[in-house]
Amino acid sequence: MEKVVFAYSGGLDTSVMIRWLIEKYDVDVVTVTVDVGQQEDLKAIEEKALKVGASRHYSIDARKEFAEKFLWASVKANALYQGKYPLSTALSRPLIASKLVEVARKEKAEAIAHGCTGRGNDQVRFEVSLKALAPEMKIIAPVREWNLSREMEIAYAREKGIPIPVKDKPYSIDQNLWGRSVECGPLDDPAVEPPEDAFEWTVQPEKAPDTPQYITLGFDNGVPVALNGREMEAVKLIEELNSLAGRHGVGRIDHVEDRTVGLKTREVYECPAALTLIEAHRDLEKLTLTRSELTFKHLVDLEWTWLVYSGLWVDPLRRELEAFIEESQKGVTGEVKIKLFKGSLSVVGRKALTRDLSLTTRRLAEAIDQTLAKGFIEHWGLQAVARSLGKTEEDR
Ligand code: ARG
Repeated sequence: MEKVVFAYSGGLDTSVMIRWLIEKYDVDVVTVTVDVGQQEDLKAIEEKALKVGASRHYSIDARKEFAEKFLWASVKANALYQGKYPLSTALSRPLIASKLVEVARKEKAEAIAHGCTGRGNDQVRFEVSLKALAPEMKIIAPVREWNLSREMEIAYAREKGIPIPVKDKPYSIDQNLWGRSVECGPLDDPAVEPPEDAFEWTVQPEKAPDTPQYITLGFDNGVPVALNGREMEAVKLIEELNSLAGRHGVGRIDHVEDRTVGLKTREVYECPAALTLIEAHRDLEKLTLTRSELTFKHLVDLEWTWLVYSGLWVDPLRRELEAFIEESQKGVTGEVKIKLFKGSLSVVGRKALTRDLSLTTRRLAEAIDQTLAKGFIEHWGLQAVARSLGKTEEDR
């Protein structure tokens, strides 16, 4: 093996791993940082990678692709894993994997390495995607192989002259446009309220402004296209909404989550834009889809969400489900009015522009002779009434 392509974040863990890969495998390490909106200094990351020993570095801006291809698909699917988590980390993994493969092919590397641990979902997501996209490529997971503790890592970094961040929070953080995932340290105990320093994108709800703020979100066939009446490109819309909602303390999630690998863990997230957009989208669907469509689509949404969460982005079922979702979104067009206030997010108004079933069903109903409803009720309740007539002791 001569060359390894490595997913580099710029943090201490992955910095230490660059050096470890070089020493253990005697290879060239080519680092890749994919910008999915993590708001880090890419130039500084590149300099650090080269300083620590990478032979070459790639910075890839994938924000637009991430937003339009991955995040908008998740809005259309109302994707909230276990009713809570908007998949912010999960959605980025297959995209990052595809960029790693692109670089690995270009560089004629024999292996791809990532910095995930052996206890989480991210290793599953990366590796399933990598295997599907580039079956010929070897996969290396230094954290799993090396089994390094934080203290050993710091000692190793010191020995090798790898810069150690001064103010290091006790959390494992993953950030992108769709949210911030915070794990570890004091959060591991599900009984303890998350300390305030776990949050960065949202203000403490009690410190949020004393007056509510109203915003509107515009959708075109299920896709978010406007904020407060202004048409906006995907990345900008998400960024603006993150800061707008975050300022009102909206977007905090404290969740007990079932990981793909079986663990049940406490997870903390900040996802202001994701929660707001999904809530608004779901509301607009209520006005535009029939009850049968809503009921069935909910099952499809759950399955889509599970595939993405569990690392099966590449499963053909995901695309097949999307074919249904896409068809269902025709006409999910309109505007939703939202009130943001001290950590709460409420839909307070919605207007469908091309199809409003509340309006049209009411109109049709006006033309029906009201006395006919009496007959409908007799038929509708037939089985329930029949059972209650023949009631036995067990039924009571
Ligand atoms: N539990 C979340 C997920 O599986 C968040 C993972 C966060 N990753 C991290 N490296 N901190 O999607």
